[in-house]
Amino acid sequence: MLLKKIAIIGAGNVGKVLGYALQKKGYTITGVVCQTKISGKEAADLLYCNFYHLPEIAAREADIVFLTTPDRVIENVCLQIAAGGGFREGQIVLHTSGAHSSKILSPAREEGAYTLSFHPLQTFPALEEGLRSLPGTFFAVEGDEEGYPQSLELVKALGGKLFFVPTEMKELYHAAACIACNYLVSLMDMALQCFALMDLPSGEAFEALLPLIQSTLANIGEIGPEKALTGPIARGDFSTINAHLAKMKALFPEIVSIYSQMGLYTAKLAVRKGTLKEAEKEKFKTLLQGGYHSE
Ligand SMILES: NC(=O)c1ccc[n+]([C@@H]2O[C@H](COP(=O)([O-])OP(=O)(O)OC[C@H]3O[C@@H](n4cnc5c(N)ncnc54)[C@H](OP(=O)(O)O)[C@@H]3O)[C@@H](O)[C@H]2O)c1
Repeated sequence: MLLKKIAIIGAGNVGKVLGYALQKKGYTITGVVCQTKISGKEAADLLYCNFYHLPEIAAREADIVFLTTPDRVIENVCLQIAAGGGFREGQIVLHTSGAHSSKILSPAREEGAYTLSFHPLQTFPALEEGLRSLPGTFFAVEGDEEGYPQSLELVKALGGKLFFVPTEMKELYHAAACIACNYLVSLMDMALQCFALMDLPSGEAFEALLPLIQSTLANIGEIGPEKALTGPIARGDFSTINAHLAKMKALFPEIVSIYSQMGLYTAKLAVRKGTLKEAEKEKFKTLLQGGYHSE
């Protein structure tokens, strides 16, 4: 049997986007809870529902309870709801944190609810942007298998796609998301800082790099990272990497260590690709660990 009554505990960016989209697909939002009255009223107006001060009251009325508070308070809010008798057998209780598993919802599980983490692999800076980017978003779902059919229904209603993550892998899943998103930003910033050293304005620099970035991403998608790899390491060009290191040490020493670490990983990828021999990888290792002399 599919459940339709939803409470949103923490109606901020994610809570409002999910609530709004699910309401449009026939779910009923029975109530919202926020930390401040002003946010709570605004969310209640948007979702045509009640605003409650106590999360346990809001949770009691619902079949599905979304805990969309900031990560740091999910566990405590869950404990508060359990202590106040807000959970019951057969209820579905979800949080949307990427970093935590469903284990932090154990107070709800102890009351017989099915608990899941339900992480949208997407960024929601505000309501309008969030609603725009929702279709096609992947949701990483982890937790009690009894809740899987309901998760599928929710994801379908949200126009998204779903994959399951084993509980013990949730941290690794989140690390991967951070690499793909946050570290990509940092790598782009490093490239832009190098361009800035040549006095290229950052807007122009990004414009110049963008076609390269886009075709690299497209190639990874089409043929995978090994085949998409090009450049001096994949070609076994030691003198080029040596020259990069010498110039970076002089002008941008802060990034030498990350450049070298990425180079070591790239050399392993090039071995997998088949364009670099094991012995050449070892030679790159010596170079990237600081053992090569700059001319
Ligand atoms: N935003 C994203 O891009 C994104 C993407 C994927 C996953 N997530 C995850 O989604 C969850 C929510 O993130 P968000 O960006 O939507 O956060 P947010 O915009 O800061 O919203 C958090 C909401 O929780 C409320 N809140 C704070 N403490 C509370 C408490 N003790 N009891 C009840 N409500 C409380 C806040 O109320 P006030 O408004 O009154 O302060 C606010 O409405 C987090 O687990 C986050 O990791 C976020």
